[in-house]
Amino acid sequence: MAAKVDVILGAQWGDEGKGKVVDVVAPDYAVIARFQGGPNAGHTLIFDGKKHVLHTIPSGVFRKGVWNLVGNGVVIDPVIFLREVHGLEAAGVDVRSHLLISRRAHLILPTHRALDAASEADKGKGKIGSTLKGIGPTYMDKTGRNGLRVGDIERPDFRAHYDALTAKHERLFSIYDSPVEWRSKEQEWLDAVEQLRGFTLVDSEQWLHDQLAAGKSVMAEGAQGTLLDIDFGTYPFVTSSNTVSAGACTGLGIGPARIGKVIGIFKAYCTRVGSGPFPTELHDAMGEKIRAAGNEFGATTGRPRRCGWLDLPALRYAVMINGVTELAMMKADVLSGMGTVQVCTAYRVQGKETMHFPYELGDDLEPVYTPMNGWGALDPEKPLPPEAEAYIAFIEQAVGVPVRIVSVGPDRKATMVRKAEVPAG
Ligand code: GDP
Ligand code: IMO
Ligand code: MG
Repeated sequence: MAAKVDVILGAQWGDEGKGKVVDVVAPDYAVIARFQGGPNAGHTLIFDGKKHVLHTIPSGVFRKGVWNLVGNGVVIDPVIFLREVHGLEAAGVDVRSHLLISRRAHLILPTHRALDAASEADKGKGKIGSTLKGIGPTYMDKTGRNGLRVGDIERPDFRAHYDALTAKHERLFSIYDSPVEWRSKEQEWLDAVEQLRGFTLVDSEQWLHDQLAAGKSVMAEGAQGTLLDIDFGTYPFVTSSNTVSAGACTGLGIGPARIGKVIGIFKAYCTRVGSGPFPTELHDAMGEKIRAAGNEFGATTGRPRRCGWLDLPALRYAVMINGVTELAMMKADVLSGMGTVQVCTAYRVQGKETMHFPYELGDDLEPVYTPMNGWGALDPEKPLPPEAEAYIAFIEQAVGVPVRIVSVGPDRKATMVRKAEVPAG
């Protein structure tokens, strides 16, 4: 029987710890495949006392014998991609022999990055807080049917297509007040494209189906998080791709019936980087304390992440949209020793309490909190303290799916697997 595709995705606003979980489970899979996003992602892996941050390359790259596929739904900046490859090679990792890139993945051009910056500057106070990696403009060109794809670099007329698209972008620059400079980045980009030709470029949807037919299991690795999804996130403060489980189907070319487990990753609290609504955000000393304890600074941009309490209406929404079958709770150790921990169990809107995640998280929306007992130090070798177990049971009850993984530190080894069953009721 053909194997399944399990999915790991973010259930909050990104940076939940997806990279860590993918790395932990990767030995159980033949293939790890990224299905959307691009170098806006920063997935951190820590083992053997070393830290690695991945942007485009899937988080199975450190596991011997595991194939890593950059799927058609991903957008690739050849410069960032090569830098990542060289960094891994310098660390002694054999990247190339087990890395495949979809011909259908779209290319981020230097002009896309320039357009991203110009658009953000133009938005002023209303800016998205983009990572400025050119993600939005590249997906715009994809859906606008102007984009360049990885497969195009194998064509003899690639340069002509590149020149035509950059000329078009030049015309777009004229709508912005400030002059846009991008030419200084061009040669480096063209050189990187030249080197990209040396990687294994594949018709990834076919390759993936051949693997599945041979009974090889696949893990689809998401980037960003559900609340940054282009359709279901806090629009317009979102990214430009479908980060939800459906994105694994379009971003890899697999049918919905092929999907097995959908593992939603969430932090024991919430963070967000960039602009946009965040109902449980803490603007006080507790927010600072969580930021410091959790080292909440962006893996891609270094920006401080906004911190707040766990938001159960939002998590329930993420479970619903993705069809999450199980959850992984990350960074439980960060709340150790914090005393009472608050959990948002409902929103109050115009005097009425609701669990419904609304069309807009307006200023009139107020989180309703339930206080929970905090816990002390956590040790992956020992059972969780009863307060932490009670916190998890409370979450399971509210969202209706079990928490099977609990992460208690950034290291690969600081990971616990629970024998959790689907909560009753
Ligand atoms: P991703 O984008 O979802 O892969 O997550 P990031 O790598 O951007 O951010 C997660 C951060 O939390 C990284 O710095 C990880 O090393 C760290 N991390 C992951 N799990 C844990 C955990 O259980 N405890 C602590 N303290 N840090 C963790
Ligand atoms: P990982 O995979 C957290 C946020 C940006 C900004 C918005 C749009 O590491 O979880 P974009 O560059 O996509 O146009 O930015 O989305 N954002 C992320 N936040 N983690 C990420 O990825 C993110 N990728 C984008 O901060 O608010
Ligand atoms: Mg990240």
